[in-house]
Amino acid sequence: MALRFICLLLAACTFACNPTKDRTQTESESTVFKIAFGSCGEQYKPQPVLERVVEQKPDLFIYLGDNIYSDTESLDTLKKNYQILANRPEFQKLKAEVPIIATWDDHDYGWNDSGRHYRLRKESKEVFLSFFGVADETVKEHDGIYHTVVKEVAGKKIQFIMLDMRTFRDKLLKYNGNRQGQAGYDYEMDYSPYTTSDSTMLGEAQWKWLEAKLREPADLRIIGSSTQFGITHNGYEAWANFPHEQKRFTDLIKSTRANGVLFISGDVHYAEVSRLTAEGLYPIYDVTASGITSTWDFATPNDNRIDGPIMENHFGLLTLNFNDDPEINMQIIDYTGKSRINRTVKLKELMF
Ligand SMILES: [Fe+2]
Repeated sequence: MALRFICLLLAACTFACNPTKDRTQTESESTVFKIAFGSCGEQYKPQPVLERVVEQKPDLFIYLGDNIYSDTESLDTLKKNYQILANRPEFQKLKAEVPIIATWDDHDYGWNDSGRHYRLRKESKEVFLSFFGVADETVKEHDGIYHTVVKEVAGKKIQFIMLDMRTFRDKLLKYNGNRQGQAGYDYEMDYSPYTTSDSTMLGEAQWKWLEAKLREPADLRIIGSSTQFGITHNGYEAWANFPHEQKRFTDLIKSTRANGVLFISGDVHYAEVSRLTAEGLYPIYDVTASGITSTWDFATPNDNRIDGPIMENHFGLLTLNFNDDPEINMQIIDYTGKSRINRTVKLKELMF
């Protein structure tokens, strides 16, 4: 049986993903590049959102984590759950039509809200790479799955920085009542923000790699972070639980003078656009698309929210137009194909 599973998985992988699919011809001829993205898809449920993605004819699809819900300490179960996604006709159509790159979140990495203490993190990485393919060979040289992908469109360089928010993340701080009595925060919360700086989400090796990547020349840098970067603390998982690392990131953008940083994220089962401001830095947008199949009853408060929330199943779409005054159109498109958020920013607004 074990051999049969391996064969099935290998077969799945040959058709599952082709991150290096060559679109150079198209890219060099057009000034437009469309990036679809999403997260939180239960593999055992129909996924009409993926059909809506294919209809948009994007140049790339980015999986931002919880790509399957596995939550297991069994490798066989993890492989079986990926196989269920591989067998879905909607996924097969997406794979056949659109190049895919990916990072993971807790439910596909290991366990709900898990971090560096998850026992099968190395094995899970192997299964992930077998399924999604290796978009960047350097991913094999270190722990975790952080990697980059670069595309050139109309002479402009787009850098996709895919973070690993799981392999190195320290334990979360249990909720200690820091929001008690504040209006809007009367729901049950899980976590509070650290007030000391001796804990990490990315880990030192990933931080060093990130700095090197931000120093590389690029016109636009899409940061793929499974958990939300731009929101304020809401008692659930987010960068806001590690405010010293959130600040370290914005400080790093400043010190490297990295232009064109834009976050995309998932995890929370609704869509929103957040805009984070920091002194001496251009606005940092975080477009959250979370809910290929998952939904949630309510959206938490978020002081940085400028669009949304959208509670119905959806995906995100960034349409980049590198014309004389390049712009980025950010959309959330729901499972019926309807555009629910539509915001455009000029690339020059994301510059020092
Ligand atoms: Fe998650």
